[in-house]
Amino acid sequence: MCGIVGYIGPRKISDVLIRGLRSLEYRGYDSAGIAIMDKSEMYVVKEVGKVADLEALLETRPVSGTFGIGHTRWATHGGVTQVNAHPHEDLSSRLVLVHNGIIENYREIRKDLSSRREGTYKSETDTEVVAELLSSLYRGNMVEALTELQGLLKGSFALAILSRDDPDRIYCLRQGSPLVVGTTGKGETFCASDVPAILPYTQDVVYLDDGDMAELSREGMKFWNSRGEPIEKKISHIDWDVTMVDKGGYPHFMLKEINEQGAVLRNSMAKRIVDERVDLSAELPWTEEDVRGWKKLHIVACGTSYYAALTAERFLERITGFDIRVDVASEYRYRTISADRDTLAVFVSQSGETADTLAAERIVKSLGGRCLAVTNVIGSTLAREVDDILQLKAGPEIGVAATKTFMGQMAVLYLLAIYLGRLQGRVTREQERLWCRELLALPYKVESILQRQGELQEMAGLYTHARDFLFLGRGISYPIALEGALKLKEISYVHAEAYAAGEMKHGPIALLDPRVPVVVVTPRDALSEKTFSNILEAKARKAPVIAVATEGDESLDDTADRIFFVPSAAEEFSPFLTVVPLQLFAYHFARFLGCHIDQPRNLAKSVTVE
Ligand code: M6R
Repeated sequence: MCGIVGYIGPRKISDVLIRGLRSLEYRGYDSAGIAIMDKSEMYVVKEVGKVADLEALLETRPVSGTFGIGHTRWATHGGVTQVNAHPHEDLSSRLVLVHNGIIENYREIRKDLSSRREGTYKSETDTEVVAELLSSLYRGNMVEALTELQGLLKGSFALAILSRDDPDRIYCLRQGSPLVVGTTGKGETFCASDVPAILPYTQDVVYLDDGDMAELSREGMKFWNSRGEPIEKKISHIDWDVTMVDKGGYPHFMLKEINEQGAVLRNSMAKRIVDERVDLSAELPWTEEDVRGWKKLHIVACGTSYYAALTAERFLERITGFDIRVDVASEYRYRTISADRDTLAVFVSQSGETADTLAAERIVKSLGGRCLAVTNVIGSTLAREVDDILQLKAGPEIGVAATKTFMGQMAVLYLLAIYLGRLQGRVTREQERLWCRELLALPYKVESILQRQGELQEMAGLYTHARDFLFLGRGISYPIALEGALKLKEISYVHAEAYAAGEMKHGPIALLDPRVPVVVVTPRDALSEKTFSNILEAKARKAPVIAVATEGDESLDDTADRIFFVPSAAEEFSPFLTVVPLQLFAYHFARFLGCHIDQPRNLAKSVTVE
């Protein structure tokens, strides 16, 4: 959580920092601040609220300089106050820094420093303690001080630092929290927590690894490893462009991203389906022998990524011969895991920076399992740690609520399922052909749903009084009900609970009355008649029923209050279609309630701390 940005160069510093912070606001948005230096003059401006509030303050109190850093905060240590907002200075204001992460031993450090250094801390943050510790270690060489600092801090951190004693330099240190740097080669250099902040200026970036330190100046970038030894770093070219990180005329990123899902499906399948055959060999150097050697398949993820994994599990269990286990990373990492050389473990993470998913991956790696990342961010920590990667090809997702990456995750996991099934000798050529046709038809079907968004807007408007929703689904539609409920609650703050439809009678039915709408995901499939009984049970309790059903299905006409029809598809593929109306319903519902859709309260796009 939290977004960091830094810039040194000829542009107006505050403009570059504010623009960068705006594109990182998905990482945290309870307060923001910048520090700008002009030779050795230091100006720090911070404000509670969104980056726009900081921007407004800067209009009344403009600051200028030649290099600077900025931060958008997701509070951990200390409440949401101006004083706790970053940047933070050391007690003697020699240096100033911004921090993303958590310092676990900051209390001990603070106690130890208090016995040696005079002064009063202004904030309740762990970060101010880091600034003071660094200042105490600085003896004229920042890289040496940072090398020592890393040895003393426990936890995760990405830091960007300005020092009065070392003007015209920005120093960076990464341990556990992401940091990327880049230069245009024209007298300017940038650092940021994520690529979108740098993308307007350059597509060539360097990802720092754990322990890496960087010095940014007008001349370019220099790097050192955790022992303070100079190192060379590889430049990565990002194939995203700047248009991907603006709203493109949409009122919210979330709506833009929902509308991009047809393209995401096409991109996910391009070059991976050739002649109605799934071919992942360009990305996965696996032999048939490798695949046949893996007996267990573990899929581990959090949040929406976990629901994509649960959806794919239903398909994988039908068409592959693995012993499959799907778990949320925060549970998996603390359970007794039997993963070894006969295990393929798939870690699904949009950001590739989720702390629990990374911890789970490290456990499997230490046990000898083969680790595959399904991620959208090719330079992420997860992507760099695993044996193999399948990229989502969704482009940057800025809205905190994941939508298009869920679509991309399902597509990639389905392709993986077919590929594994074939290498295991369990998928016939004819079957593969049929599935490829189903997959290739999906973008058109998704786009036909998107053309009817007005229906969902109208539907959402009918239920704005509701304070509880129940979502139901069976079989492959159960994870979609979970995802629909998550989308609704995270952006509208209205309580939404999802159950496997068959579980309704085991408790949740007690909640039903005319004030609790029930959203039922019931595409025509082998289980839809069973779900129909649940609809009747809900209606008998006078609960309004909103159904997502298959075009041409007339069976619900006299029972459901509202029906949204999706095009028909083979039953394993219905999740790609049924999720879209649920995303749009959540979006319009939250919009009617006037919520901050792209930056819901208390949430951050990537959860980089446990
Ligand atoms: O980056 P990841 O896919 O690892 O993130 C996992 C979850 O934090 C994420 O899906 C979260 O649940 C979103 N808010 C869902 O919209």
